[in-house]
Amino acid sequence: MATLAEEKTYEGIEPTEKPIVLLWFWPIGVKFDFKACLTYFNIDSCLLTDNRSMYSKAQGVIFYHKNIQWNLKNMPQEPRPPFQRWIWFNVESPRNTAKKPGLENLFNLTLSYRRDADITVRNELLIRKTVLKDDFVLPKKDKLVCWIVSNKHPATEQLQERNITTNCPEHIKIHVYGIAYTGKRLSYDEYYSTIASCKFYLSFENSIHRDYITEKVNGPLVAGTVPVVLGPSRENYEQFLPSDSFIHINDFPDAKSLAEFLHHLDMNDEAYMHYFEWRKYYTASPHLLSTYNEFIQPVCLACDHMSRDKDYHVVNDLYGWYFS
Ligand SMILES: *[C@@H]1O[C@H](CO)[C@@H](O)[C@H](O)[C@H]1NC(C)=O
Ligand SMILES: *[C@@H]1O[C@H](CO)[C@@H](O)[C@H](O)[C@H]1NC(C)=O
Ligand SMILES: *[C@@H]1O[C@H](CO)[C@@H](O)[C@H](O)[C@H]1NC(C)=O
Repeated sequence: MATLAEEKTYEGIEPTEKPIVLLWFWPIGVKFDFKACLTYFNIDSCLLTDNRSMYSKAQGVIFYHKNIQWNLKNMPQEPRPPFQRWIWFNVESPRNTAKKPGLENLFNLTLSYRRDADITVRNELLIRKTVLKDDFVLPKKDKLVCWIVSNKHPATEQLQERNITTNCPEHIKIHVYGIAYTGKRLSYDEYYSTIASCKFYLSFENSIHRDYITEKVNGPLVAGTVPVVLGPSRENYEQFLPSDSFIHINDFPDAKSLAEFLHHLDMNDEAYMHYFEWRKYYTASPHLLSTYNEFIQPVCLACDHMSRDKDYHVVNDLYGWYFS
């Protein structure tokens, strides 16, 4: 606080008081340093804390959905101050979200990947200030199709539904990485370079829901690889990404024709390079690679939001919205 006082004297202006934002639970117990908001996202506009003694003063309280007990016993038991806003934080898709009763009309703001959330968290492409003149230099590639799978079950189910793992191997060789298949976790240092070494990367979401397009697509876009996406409709992807930045599974009647198309692009550099044209106009930003990458950015964005938005909000029918 000494620094604030100093600022006051030196600058002669009152520093605006930052709102206090309380993170009620560490998401699934994963802790991180709140300084990351300043370091990675240049956000320093609120006072983030995990100290529950600050509850009565906090303008915002963030609740990670998965941590909330079914009987809500681990939610604040003291009355909610009238100025305080509760933020529902969830990074899981509807399929992996439990409908715990009593939360439907409890919150003021939603924090999720959904475009219609109050606070939306996504890896978005940024528009370049000036069109890039130089041609994109393709990273050196020695593999055709790669796939990193951290969790065997959900993705495998999806694939079996589409007959891709069952039919694809006869048509195309897929390099699979990840603990579920190789018994060895790919290190963070190897993540982007591994993806970069492949011409195509399978960006398969573990469940299919509107707007549920994760870092699995951002990785190849950052690395300079063409994502082959499995997830919501092509139209939904195109709300976030240029239509020629990815290949959509649904564009093909079966795994065989997809494999044929990938082979065709492998033989035809000009057609393949077309998938990198978007880079003249946009840039992809690397996402944080760590167990907590999916939690830091949302918490920082909630902090930023709380410092700008002072409006009264209520979330009615949380599940009606989220599961629609
Ligand atoms: C939490 O906040 C209270 C009240 O401001 C303070 O007395 C206490 O030392 C804090 N605890 C921690 C662990 O920072
Ligand atoms: C998957 O393959 C089985 C037989 O191999 C077939 O009966 C089924 O219709 C296929 N499913 C899809 C979605 O193509
Ligand atoms: C927050 O939401 C609750 C529950 O709907 C509501 O009672 C309260 O007035 C809202 N508060 C603010 C500050 O938006």
